[in-house]
Amino acid sequence: MGKFIQRLMIKMLPLTPGFLMWPVARRYIAGSSLADAVRTTRELNDLGATATLDILGEELRTLDEARDVSGRYQDALDAIHAEELRANISIKLSAFGIRIDPTACRELVVEVLTRAREYGTFVRFDMEDSTLTQPTLDLYRDLRPDFPNIGVVLQAMLKRTIEDARALAEEGARVRLVQGIYVEPEEIAYRDFQTIREKFVETLDILLAGESHVAIATHDGWLVQSSRRLIREGEIGGDRYEFQMLLGVREKLRDALIGDGLGLRVYVPFGKEWRAYSVRRMKENPQLLSHVLGAMLPWRRG
Ligand code: FDA
Repeated sequence: MGKFIQRLMIKMLPLTPGFLMWPVARRYIAGSSLADAVRTTRELNDLGATATLDILGEELRTLDEARDVSGRYQDALDAIHAEELRANISIKLSAFGIRIDPTACRELVVEVLTRAREYGTFVRFDMEDSTLTQPTLDLYRDLRPDFPNIGVVLQAMLKRTIEDARALAEEGARVRLVQGIYVEPEEIAYRDFQTIREKFVETLDILLAGESHVAIATHDGWLVQSSRRLIREGEIGGDRYEFQMLLGVREKLRDALIGDGLGLRVYVPFGKEWRAYSVRRMKENPQLLSHVLGAMLPWRRG
């Protein structure tokens, strides 16, 4: 597909009717309901993987919407407990209203963390764009003494990450390491593909040398191999790390890691807002567009 057509298609994605997008999206999203997420998690558990549940949300407008998000996460925690699933949850502070009212956001997050603590379930604060890096780390550090069942995310692309990793390693934080999905200004972020990869490995080395538990979240074969080499050379025990991947992405690599006996957690997004999430995924991986085209133009199939 030509670059111009690709850009045009990306612009048009938000206008594409849901029934045309769903055939592509269903691979990356458990479904619109909690029951769908429970079913997908059970299937993953049967395959030997654990899961982390993510409730999809649109840009938040009111605190009432944030209260609703908090309630839905508590329902998810109840379901994980009742169904005895091997799963935890991932939350985005923007969905809890951090941009609207940080104090109210903290209260809503505490509600979720309290329920999670009762069940002994872990909660990850996803990392959003760089305007929320410091507020997310601040809230994590504020709450960690009362809630040892929480962890954060570091993005290898950010120039500050090496320093953050040193501090978090010393604190014994549970850290998910990712490349970083947001487009950030050049002053604060690396842009070069290989530099970001190398920073990822450097950050992992720092975290593993300290006290951290690390979730190595990537589908990049080079990063998986480099991480495995570090783990082997450092004789790092399986209780110090796990690999993480998104639902529906590079399943062969996922199954190979499970087959090698490594801990593997799958990020399971679900919820009514699946369209916005799908658009983001397709912007990230324009190859998926050809599948959308296939679904939109039935005569192209086969
Ligand atoms: P890379 O993008 O090079 O992918 C390697 C290959 O995997 C690609 O060539 C493609 O084949 C396939 N692939 C990757 N992503 C795909 C996709 N979405 N759909 C289809 N195929 C795909 N970011 C962030 O900023 N904050 C966060 O909190 C998180 N959380 C998070 C959790 C988990 C479990 C994962 C796996 C990722 C995140 N991310 C994230 C996203 C992360 O920052 C990054 O954007 C993606 O993982 C893509 O980078 P990779 O390291 O996978 O390599």
